[in-house]
Amino acid sequence: MGWDSSLLGKCQSQVIWREETASTNDDAMALGRAGVAAGTIVVAERQTAGRGRRGRAWVSAPDESLAFSVLARPKFPRALWGRLALIAGLAVAEALETFGYEPRMKWPNDVLLAGRKVCGILVETDEDFAVIGIGLNVLVRVFPEELAETATSLWLVDGQNVAREGLLAAISDRLEKILAKADSDFTSVIESVRARCAYSGRRVRYHVHGSEREGIMRGWGDGGEMLVERDGQIEEVIQADEVRAL
Ligand code: BTN
Repeated sequence: MGWDSSLLGKCQSQVIWREETASTNDDAMALGRAGVAAGTIVVAERQTAGRGRRGRAWVSAPDESLAFSVLARPKFPRALWGRLALIAGLAVAEALETFGYEPRMKWPNDVLLAGRKVCGILVETDEDFAVIGIGLNVLVRVFPEELAETATSLWLVDGQNVAREGLLAAISDRLEKILAKADSDFTSVIESVRARCAYSGRRVRYHVHGSEREGIMRGWGDGGEMLVERDGQIEEVIQADEVRAL
């Protein structure tokens, strides 16, 4: 399936479309170093070396996925750029809602539909810019065995044939708006995230520095940390792996 260039033009930002590339994050990184303007998007049909968090590979099926990276030059302090992934997750969730979906955000920044991961986000930074990489499963029919239990796509959720160009325009539009808001009013951004929190009030298991812990999910702290109730106390978790509802 090809891409409709007139629809791609609906994005407010410049969109660079590639049939194939190693990773759109690498391409956007190179553009950032070359001084290209914030908001520029690189989107690819096929990534030969797409990557996810924690050094994992990210495989996005050609024709069925949306894989793109946005070059950002955030105005808020560098020390707070960790918030970018959360902001991107919210942008994806809000965009999906405009297509009739009911997404949930799983800490730190996965977007879920019907309890399964539909979107992954990888933020990478350089000195004065950041690259926000987004991989969304749009029309995927079948996942590899190792993902079959945990991943989903828009199509698998409701059989809608959503055009990737429209999704890209909706996500980039939301991203631009939330980025602008985060600068002055991160509290309202966090409120929007909390309203979409996956596993709220449910027992979760997660790993901190290799050790397994359990508690009740209490959502997001003001700075984007995960709040978990353990033995009647609220623990603020800044780094954890493999958060799962039990
Ligand atoms: C995750 O591990 O959940 C994050 C996955 C991020 C994948 C996207 S696809 C577009 C961009 N290019 C990459 O190589 N990775 C990100």
